[in-house]
Amino acid sequence: MWRVKPLDAILATAEKKSLHRSLGAFQLTMLGIGAIIGTGIFVLTAEAAQKAGPGMMLAFVIAGFVCAVAALCYAEMAAMVPVSGSAYTYSYAVMGELLAWMVGWALILEYAVAAGAVSVGWSGYVVGLIENAFAIDIPNALVRGPMDGGLVNLPAMGIALVVTALLVVGTRESAVVNSFLVAIKVAALTLFIVLAVPVMNMENFTPFAPLGFAGISAAAASIFFAYVGFDAVSTAAEETKNPQRNMPIGLIGSLAVCTIFYLLVAAGVIGTVGAQPVLGADGAALRPGSPELSAACTAIGDAKVVCSKEALAWTLREIGWPQIGNLIGLAAGLALPSVILMMMFGQTRIFFVMSRDGLLPPVLSKVHPKFHTPHVITIITGVFVALFAAFFPVGVLADISNSGTLFAFAMVAIAVVVLRRTDPNRNRPFRTPAVFVVAPLAAIGCVYLFFSLSNETKLMFVGWALFGLLVYFLYGYRKSHVAHGSPETHELDADAPPPPIAGA
Ligand code: ALA
Repeated sequence: MWRVKPLDAILATAEKKSLHRSLGAFQLTMLGIGAIIGTGIFVLTAEAAQKAGPGMMLAFVIAGFVCAVAALCYAEMAAMVPVSGSAYTYSYAVMGELLAWMVGWALILEYAVAAGAVSVGWSGYVVGLIENAFAIDIPNALVRGPMDGGLVNLPAMGIALVVTALLVVGTRESAVVNSFLVAIKVAALTLFIVLAVPVMNMENFTPFAPLGFAGISAAAASIFFAYVGFDAVSTAAEETKNPQRNMPIGLIGSLAVCTIFYLLVAAGVIGTVGAQPVLGADGAALRPGSPELSAACTAIGDAKVVCSKEALAWTLREIGWPQIGNLIGLAAGLALPSVILMMMFGQTRIFFVMSRDGLLPPVLSKVHPKFHTPHVITIITGVFVALFAAFFPVGVLADISNSGTLFAFAMVAIAVVVLRRTDPNRNRPFRTPAVFVVAPLAAIGCVYLFFSLSNETKLMFVGWALFGLLVYFLYGYRKSHVAHGSPETHELDADAPPPPIAGA
């Protein structure tokens, strides 16, 4: 189980597949921004406020910093091993099959559960838009999950199934569509900043940390979700021109742009409508996504941003821009499905590579005769995403997704250092600066954020990991292609799905 897939074999696989290299630095940055900006900033801002109050500004900085150091490690790996499968593939080469499997298993949380979270976020904005634009009231029972004061979130479930259907018939965003949606998201956030920041009231920033540093840490662990997605850039390494130069620019550039936007948006929310948490009878802040918070919000007529499912639109309506608020809802409604699409596509891609390596059954990478897509795994993924979206609140899903992502990021940070020691002479087109400081910082940062997640989330992660171990020892351990001495197995390559997103 400590067997590794030799790096040279991985690179040879990539050489032979030779996907068309069409992406440059600009397209990669756009791809990154397209994958990053989503539910995190549009929706989870309310959650972060409930956990940290105005201190959420610091939470954005902490989460952004951890992502930046993790991205620097990712960039070294992505440029050195420009192949599909991202953290899973890197771990396979460096830390052996068992850990690679665990990383791949954790990436399921990152991608599939995140797709569910973004679906719920989308639902919040679309429902808010319909209710406000047409002055109708849709019963909560149909648009929220059971933990959130409803029964089933039908719109969230619906959008997940629609995206699944699109993926089955082989829809992928073209670079043009992606750029268009990035423009919509950036325009929406810019509009928000322009309207909110000038009318800020600095008094709203005090008390800055009503729940102390623990609250800020908890908010950072949740808002980390807002930055997830930059690693999707690394999965496009095989389609990148001169990945040695462009990959690091794409990763770090997209992260930098998003961080600036997030800080300005967070300041705009805090400065205009305030961001103090809703407290329970005992004076403690109520947990986001809990029935208690939902009930407390109903009691105050949802009069705080922390109660809103569409924080940015709600804020604009509060400060006298109802129509622009609706416009932001429209922008989110148009743009968020592409984040769901990217997440679910990433998921099928990871499953595909794991199946190609023999760690998952070959049936999962079966390709549809007409659509040439891995329809089996797409449909299975889609059904699960739809179920998550139907029954869980956005914050719970985002936190679970974060737990998997943080694990994968920590592994990549460790892999970079290990590889510097074990294979110092390999060509490294991009070298993580001060790697012996940056990589440990990334690993420690991920561990710190992981432990700042709620106990329920950590328990879910442990349960998922144990289940993964069981699956590995019952299946992958015996079936692995590397175990059978054929690390360069290509028999499925002919069936490989076409390159992702921007190549179309
Ligand atoms: N970063 C992505 C989002 O915020 C996952 O929706």
